[in-house]
Amino acid sequence: MVLRSHIVGCGSYLPERVVTNQELAGRVDTTDEWIVERSGIRQRYLAAEGETTADLATIAAQRALTSAGISGSEVDLLVLATATPDHTFPATAAKVQGRIGMVGGAAFDLQAVCSGFIFALSVADNFIKTGQARTALVIGAETFSRILDWTDRGTCVLFGDGAGAVVLRAGRGKGTSEDRGILSTHLHSDGRHHDLLYVDGGPSTTQTTGFLRMEGKEVFRHAVTNLASVVGEALTANDLTPADIDWVVPHQANKRIIEGTARKLGFPLERMVMTVERHANTSAASVPLALCEAVTDGRIRDGQLVLLEAMGGGFTWGAGLVRM
Ligand code: UT7
Repeated sequence: MVLRSHIVGCGSYLPERVVTNQELAGRVDTTDEWIVERSGIRQRYLAAEGETTADLATIAAQRALTSAGISGSEVDLLVLATATPDHTFPATAAKVQGRIGMVGGAAFDLQAVCSGFIFALSVADNFIKTGQARTALVIGAETFSRILDWTDRGTCVLFGDGAGAVVLRAGRGKGTSEDRGILSTHLHSDGRHHDLLYVDGGPSTTQTTGFLRMEGKEVFRHAVTNLASVVGEALTANDLTPADIDWVVPHQANKRIIEGTARKLGFPLERMVMTVERHANTSAASVPLALCEAVTDGRIRDGQLVLLEAMGGGFTWGAGLVRM
């Protein structure tokens, strides 16, 4: 028998305010048609004034705990993936830890931008598999609206705010792909491309927060190649083929990236969970938001095989294979 991390609950939160493409077209030189055609995005949710990443993360975490039927005091590891923390320090995870009544264990932030949730899931899974944690909260939460240059039409139309969370619990398995829980995770980064998608500020450089800058076309090109490669790696590691996968929950950056990856790998589009048209790109929150939506509406069911994948600034990219 081997230790496995079972996903026993999930929760998510989207801010109240919905901003449509039409509304953005009143602010920058863009159109609903351009945004929909190039990205698939129709609207995004934006945090209210004063609403922070920790606020979004706390609600998602509380909902995940409720769905798992446990209290915060049972959690002994909290990993929060974000590129938009409340403060430079302490970690946003520490704020959330205090709010959910988690008193023991460790809470920390993890920064891998849009791949952050997959990286955090991998870290928590490894803590559980080595016996260092029994119950982990893994959160992806972002307020990207705070780091957008609202005069740059090439980026400001693409992102949104939100949070998603899962609860992992240590369980046992036979060590085969029939086991419940996280079967494997696969992480990569390539720092040679750090300046294709970055924020032009920070405590050690400008002492300002800065704004998101992106070479969209270049990022797009790398995204399809890297995602197809890491998904292939996850399938090979588990001796599986695309036909074995019930659902793919991809990072929601661009509908065309999701479609391109599906085509390259031979996944039918009906098995790709798609939220990008409503949520836009919520960075580290996008995968847990989409996962939680598909679990809650009954598409993803117990026993099914789910493949998670994401790619983001760094570059970073990764995949995780989970039997629910
Ligand atoms: O989370 C992971 C990181 N992010 C991504 O994965 C995003 C990856 N990249 C993309 O999704 C796409 O590259 C974009 C959606 C960002 C852009 O699509 P594109 O087909 O690569 O367009 P482009 O940047 O090459 O721009 C085409 C044209 C340009 O005009 P010219 O130079 O051809 O006259 C842009 O100035 O579209 C123009 N443009 C816009 N027009 C209307 C750029 N942004 C807009 C806009 N509205 N919002």
